Amino acid sequence: MRPEQPSAVKLSEYRVPDFLIDHVEMDVVLDGPATRVSARMSLRRNLQGRPDAPLILDGDDLRLSGPLEIDGRALPLSDYSVAAQSLVIPAPPEGPFELHLVTALDPAANTKLMGLYRSSGTYCTQCEAEGFRRITYFLDRPDVLATYRVRIEADRAEAPILLSNGNPESAGSIEGTDRHFAVWHDPFPKPSYLFALVGGDLAQLKDSFRTMSGRDVELGIYVEHGKQDRAGYAMDALKRSMRWDEEKFGREYDLDVFNIVAVSDFNMGAMENKGLNVFNDKYVLASSDTATDADYSGIEAVIAHEYFHNWTGNRITCRDWFQLCLKEGLTVFRDQEFTADMRSRPVERISDVRGLRAVQFMEDAGPFAHPVRPESYREINNFYTATVYEKGAEVIRMLKTLIGAESFRKGMDLYFERHDGQAATIEQFIACFSEASGRNLDQFRLWYSQAGTPTVRAKTSWDEAGGTFTLELEQAVPPTPGQDTKKPMVIPLAYRLFGENGTPLSVENSSGDGELIVLSDAHSRIDWKGLPKRPVLSLNRGFSAAINLQTDLPEADRLFLARHDDDAFNRWQVLQTATTEVLIKSVHALRSTEPMPDDAPQIEAFAAALAHTALDPALLAQLLTLPSEADLAREIGRDVDPDAIYNARLRLKQSLLAALEDDLRARYEATSVPAPYVPDAAGAGRRALRTVLLDLLTARRDERSAHIAYAQFVSADNQTDRIGALAVLSQIESRLREDALDAFASRFAGDGLVLDKWFALQASIPEAGTLERVQRLMQHPDFSLSNPNRVRSLIGGFASGNPTQFTRPDGQGFAFLADNVVQLDRMNPQVAARLLGAFRTWRALEPVRRAEAEKALRKIAESGSLSADVNDLVSRALT
Ligand code: PHE
Ligand code: ZN
Repeated sequence: MRPEQPSAVKLSEYRVPDFLIDHVEMDVVLDGPATRVSARMSLRRNLQGRPDAPLILDGDDLRLSGPLEIDGRALPLSDYSVAAQSLVIPAPPEGPFELHLVTALDPAANTKLMGLYRSSGTYCTQCEAEGFRRITYFLDRPDVLATYRVRIEADRAEAPILLSNGNPESAGSIEGTDRHFAVWHDPFPKPSYLFALVGGDLAQLKDSFRTMSGRDVELGIYVEHGKQDRAGYAMDALKRSMRWDEEKFGREYDLDVFNIVAVSDFNMGAMENKGLNVFNDKYVLASSDTATDADYSGIEAVIAHEYFHNWTGNRITCRDWFQLCLKEGLTVFRDQEFTADMRSRPVERISDVRGLRAVQFMEDAGPFAHPVRPESYREINNFYTATVYEKGAEVIRMLKTLIGAESFRKGMDLYFERHDGQAATIEQFIACFSEASGRNLDQFRLWYSQAGTPTVRAKTSWDEAGGTFTLELEQAVPPTPGQDTKKPMVIPLAYRLFGENGTPLSVENSSGDGELIVLSDAHSRIDWKGLPKRPVLSLNRGFSAAINLQTDLPEADRLFLARHDDDAFNRWQVLQTATTEVLIKSVHALRSTEPMPDDAPQIEAFAAALAHTALDPALLAQLLTLPSEADLAREIGRDVDPDAIYNARLRLKQSLLAALEDDLRARYEATSVPAPYVPDAAGAGRRALRTVLLDLLTARRDERSAHIAYAQFVSADNQTDRIGALAVLSQIESRLREDALDAFASRFAGDGLVLDKWFALQASIPEAGTLERVQRLMQHPDFSLSNPNRVRSLIGGFASGNPTQFTRPDGQGFAFLADNVVQLDRMNPQVAARLLGAFRTWRALEPVRRAEAEKALRKIAESGSLSADVNDLVSRALT
């Protein structure tokens, strides 16, 4: 039995709007449950639309207050119909007209955190994708672009800070009252999803930025009082982002002010509203005592991401939500490039690819697989996915690799010039690059329309007599929901051939593209001729194509590449591949009577990496990190037993420890140089290495191991080392673990953002008692089901960060998630739906767990009155 389906929106059914809105005058009176929004919209018929179409405005849960007016005259009740979800005027005036309407809102009762709501008392908004219709009736679609003037009025004591998009125009007191107002004007036409408004009592961090043409922009970051000293890093990241976009893309900021507001209740990471970004405070607040290196780099990336949206998303927006990757994939690509420039490029690439494989490849291999540009959706909120974002970014990177950096920059310039001020499509975007490069990109566009991760099989052969090295390539894209058969894709494979002592060979290949092979047929054969000796091939360097690559490299070539490849990514990849193979063999051995594989080659490779003292510690940390449980599950693909995967990893760590203990300890001790904490790449690399080494040093999981981790925990003078130690210690059943957890909780009591780490660590403990622990933690005074960050840390941490316990064979882990999804759905459907991501690979589980997962999914499906968000995902999961 499947829940009823809301009807699908289809890309093929796109129609231009029948009406346009050029300008909006808003007057927002913030007054608790008596909040009112007056909107005066300048409307006109779209000459490209249907001539006699009625005016249909979108609404969601709205209540009209007072009469509707057209051009200053009240509209008779018989001339329109109004419901919670729409407002219809069958016969509006033919010429341009002004529509005035007032809606009544109760922001504190808005638990969906979409539209106008309150977070710790602050009034704030979230409109992407369809939240503006929860504020007023509107043509709430991204191809309707209007300028806005917004007057906000509020009690001065309750909300001394009043912000909206654009530039400030005026402000003042309201005579004879305790109230005040501010007026903001945004001269750039924008879609309603970029609207924002904030009213509250907030502390402000101020700075300024001089743009490339010499204009001064006032920068403001608003946070809860007492937290200003945690906003400095975000401000620094903002200024670096603004400079970088000028230098790398020629993009200058365009308003007089740029404001960021941090709120503690937010469904996503952050939002790029024009001139007024609203952030989940997780991506703003950081101090050495509260935030980890990962938090700092997350802040840097998200600040950059939202800022970069000003050009890729705001100045040029999306025609419709099918084009979401037009802004998101491109902007993720831009923020990844920024991070690569700010930190270490290879380390950034490795961690991006790790993330891509762990989340997007998983998504692409299961029931939620969809193209980077989907063709239909039932609930757009469910398409803010790793596929749209991260695979979307990979597609841009492949495009750049394919046409070259110079043509890519030309194409970007053309895109900015041609589509500034417009709501664009993927076709228009791609057209800029085919013009700039002179290359036909029709087949390349399959990356946007075909779901699934392509597999490329590579076979090499050597003809000693003729001195010819041959590479045979074969590609296939697996079937995905709704797409049974696939066409061959354009796959750009960066490569290099190495000669005997590790020197790169410069020989033309038969396809003649320099050190790039562009695979565009199902099969292909490339020859290199006139070679004195069989070369060693390094393929898909830097992960130039987002594919699953299967090679037949002999062991000797792998060892060679691990030592000599001048692409750090591929040096890391060879070791990962080899380790993955050994771990998968161990998994099979653990589940059968087969003997355990020989891990001597792994030990040797790890020893070599450890001995390489000139290596960047951040890179060494990546080299020494085993493939994750999720990675292995994906590689195994079917009949997955998470316990066996967990045990295989632990056993390998134990053999590494047995063989390399002295080296590991020596290296570990060398990382603890007493230096003041600086959240830069070098320090972060050293600390990442320290925790990876600590994890290996404690692989026996005995009392002595617990002491080693505990020692780092108590002596840590920064949150990275402290949480690193606590994460390791959490995996060890010990009294010390509970002591450390208690100490952490009392030290950070009341600080939800810091306790999120504490919740997540405990949720990930691979022990049978964890489910009960999680249930107990839900009663903790700092936990709240209404705060998305808390829910994601504790419940999401359990479902997505604890493979062995979430998938318990007795089904209790699944059942726990199902109950919480149903309960949360009544409050906040988006957050509830996100949790269901944990089911993205349920069919790959072994039969007992799979049956339990299905039971839980069916239970959700049958629980009645589900939101469109949860309904859509559950029914897709079960299809
Ligand atoms: N557009 C935001 C971003 O990626 C994400 C977001 C989507 C935020 C929907 C809120 C709601 O930058
Ligand atoms: Zn974005």
